[in-house]
Amino acid sequence: MDSFTQLIRGTGSVAEVITIYDEYCTTYDKMVCEKGKYKGPFILVEAVTKEVPECRRKEVRVLDVAAGTGMVGVALAQKGFTNLDALEPSEGMLECLRSKNVYTNTFHEYVGQCNTNVPQGCYDLVFSVGGMANNHIPFTGALEFVRFAKPGGLVMICMRQDEEDYLTKLKEYMNSLEEQQLWKKEFSTPIKDYCVGREGVLFVYQVL
Ligand SMILES: C[S@@+](CC[C@H](N)C(=O)[O-])C[C@H]1O[C@@H](n2cnc3c(N)ncnc32)[C@H](O)[C@@H]1O
Repeated sequence: MDSFTQLIRGTGSVAEVITIYDEYCTTYDKMVCEKGKYKGPFILVEAVTKEVPECRRKEVRVLDVAAGTGMVGVALAQKGFTNLDALEPSEGMLECLRSKNVYTNTFHEYVGQCNTNVPQGCYDLVFSVGGMANNHIPFTGALEFVRFAKPGGLVMICMRQDEEDYLTKLKEYMNSLEEQQLWKKEFSTPIKDYCVGREGVLFVYQVL
């Protein structure tokens, strides 16, 4: 099985997955967009620009979790967002991301393994595109998203829908956070042909 197929199938340990991202960092953008026909970044940017009017884009503080090579940050910068931070555990991906010069602070960290150095309760918008998946961010990482955001801030999670076991656990966990009144669901929407012809989903929550 080649590394790209391994990523798509969600196999391998977290450490192996990060090694693959290190290996593919320079070809990632071309590979996922052309070979994978990956729509995630475009869907997220569309959702964010609907939520945040142009007049607020310079002031909102944004955290891109599992930011990869920074494709989403570049697209958001083109839409007028200037206050962008990124968290990414792969050193290779992080180097590519930093070279794009759109993020202010970058955190070389994992979500879900231990406490991060990311400031808590500071962000107006926290999102992850493609980071919530098997052997990536554990479903319990959703709680860290809540902690990164300020009260009233938004959390957006854009992900594939075909890893049924992971998605079921994530939905149960997100519901439990809602029952604890840590956030409330704004909406979720399916994404047709999210990546390699598979369906995806976008979740949007407001932190309380
Ligand atoms: C499919 S890529 C998505 C990258 C970028 N968001 C995009 O849409 O192009 C998944 C990213 O998740 C990162 N990742 C994997 N496990 C992670 C974890 N536990 N915490 C944070 N990021 C993680 C990987 O290093 C990789 O860059």
